[in-house]
Amino acid sequence: ETVEWDPEQAGKGEYDHFMHKEIHEQPTALAQAIEGRIDHGSGRIALEDFEPGTFEGIESVQLVACGTSYHAALYGSLALNAAGIRATALLANEYSVSAPPVDDDTLVIAVSQSGETADTLNALRQARASGARTLTLTNVVGSTAAREADDALFIRAGPEIGVAATKTFSSQAVMLLLLAQRLADDVRGEPHADLDSLLPELAAMPDRIDAILEASTADRVARRYADSESYFFIGRGLGFPVALEGALKFKEITYEHAEGFASGELKHGPLALVTPETPVFAIFTGEEDEKTLKNAEEAQTRGAPVVAVCPEDHRAVAVADDHLRIPETDADLAGLLANVQLQLLSYHAADLLDRPIDKPRNLAKSVTVE
Ligand code: AGP
Repeated sequence: ETVEWDPEQAGKGEYDHFMHKEIHEQPTALAQAIEGRIDHGSGRIALEDFEPGTFEGIESVQLVACGTSYHAALYGSLALNAAGIRATALLANEYSVSAPPVDDDTLVIAVSQSGETADTLNALRQARASGARTLTLTNVVGSTAAREADDALFIRAGPEIGVAATKTFSSQAVMLLLLAQRLADDVRGEPHADLDSLLPELAAMPDRIDAILEASTADRVARRYADSESYFFIGRGLGFPVALEGALKFKEITYEHAEGFASGELKHGPLALVTPETPVFAIFTGEEDEKTLKNAEEAQTRGAPVVAVCPEDHRAVAVADDHLRIPETDADLAGLLANVQLQLLSYHAADLLDRPIDKPRNLAKSVTVE
């Protein structure tokens, strides 16, 4: 007698989709990303082969990436700037026509889950040829990008099978936060001022994400807005890359129209699209939240339902039509918690529509053509 065994189903364990499983793997992935990398005694960031002072002399940073990795790169560039390091995130596929000048004081960081994305490899090669110092941040040891850069740093998220990147975004963003602290330490001789509050909050991230996964109401919210025309995501500061990522994930797996905006941009054009059929998901990270709330209210005045992604006792909860709750944390990390709620929202919305969640049409896990 033979037992039916489907290796794909076995890989998913108790979950129907790899994406759902990978969303739930984020507490472990983040614990693995930070393990051994924070020296709590000295408050320093310890990154494997990088001796203290490794990044001395770096004057500016360019991060190159595509898709979700680009959103993590944008998150990282904001963290670097906040830490006093000049940084820009650039789309790797635009780099050949729009690269800012580089020299040997420029660090170019290729951010790529797979380390095989053709556009990102091209940007990395161009940066090397122009004399920049290069570093790859990736999930895949032995990938082309890891081998070709001067240095490589690994996010240790474990394999990601779903085409939609989930846990790797969180791990990339956290690694870039650590790297920002490390660069500030090496380049300016002082870590980012808020390190004392950031490090314990970082260590608490796995528990905070677990709390979201246990109590999320994203399935109910997805059902309530299932017949909408378009889905808008707004955020400011570190909430902006999360708004972009929320919209990318939503369109990628539901095939519904979704867009992410900087909160303040809404009134500069997109507001014309807002109707009662376009829910607005507003991400609150603690950065000028009153302004984001005002932007959300402008949409609400035009009839759009507003879903606030924020802690329980936030002022936005009373104003909004619905609430996706995140635990209180540091402003540097709140966007990553909000992102977990938005991943669940996209997942449940796609599931209701019966989409092939792990393999959306026309897309590949790693895009090895230009
Ligand atoms: C994310 O959900 C996408 N599948 C896609 O945008 C992806 O992030 C992009 O193709 C970059 O891939 P990489 O991180 O492997 O370079």
